[in-house]
Amino acid sequence: MATNITWHAGLTRKERSELRKQKGCTVWFTGLSASGKSTIATALEQHLLHLEYQVYRLDGDNVRFGLNKDLGFSPNDRVENIRRIAEVAKLFADSTTIALTSFISPYKADRQIARDLHADTKNVDQPLPFIEVFIDVPIEEAEKRDPKGLYKKAKSGEIKEFTGISAPYEAPENAEIHIHSEKTSVEEAVMIITKYLEDNGLLS
Ligand code: PPS
Repeated sequence: MATNITWHAGLTRKERSELRKQKGCTVWFTGLSASGKSTIATALEQHLLHLEYQVYRLDGDNVRFGLNKDLGFSPNDRVENIRRIAEVAKLFADSTTIALTSFISPYKADRQIARDLHADTKNVDQPLPFIEVFIDVPIEEAEKRDPKGLYKKAKSGEIKEFTGISAPYEAPENAEIHIHSEKTSVEEAVMIITKYLEDNGLLS
């Protein structure tokens, strides 16, 4: 931690969202690999862009090509992965963007840290809304889908510490939105999340 640093208070969130005519928030997708997180988040991004909202998606695989390229899949690296993403999503949300994050984010404690970070009003005027979306799929269904062939490799031992096979996934108990992706179409999922955002005044 650096010393001799002082928080510089610029515009408030209230001022920013009044000028941009858009409120920021983070929609935090969580679920097993192949649950449909990225597919649903991408369709939601497209839908909200068509409605002319400023929205941006941060994706597990993609972020690991850049910002988090120093991180692997050990428990400690996953913790750091999610901590950085939570900080980045918060910056996007603070800018009044709708930030969508699609990361497995397997540990409850880390998702709670991401939530608490958005609720923290130490240096800002308002907490940032954080909406956890659990994309729930039975592991058997995820294994059947296996679009990248990763479950097959995990089962043969070629990939170590693979979520759901040889590493844990702690399912959320109180997510704001719970979608069963084997029973819900991508379009329906997009509508469910959009309605939640509307009902909570986040798209006004
Ligand atoms: S985490 O657990 O939140 O840090 O993972 P995340 O950053 O979302 O990255 C998940 C994607 O990385 C690929 N991959 C693995 N996932 C889980 N476990 C292991 N060991 C692993 N190795 C590679 C995989 O493509 C994940 O993408 P999705 O979109 O979830 O399938």
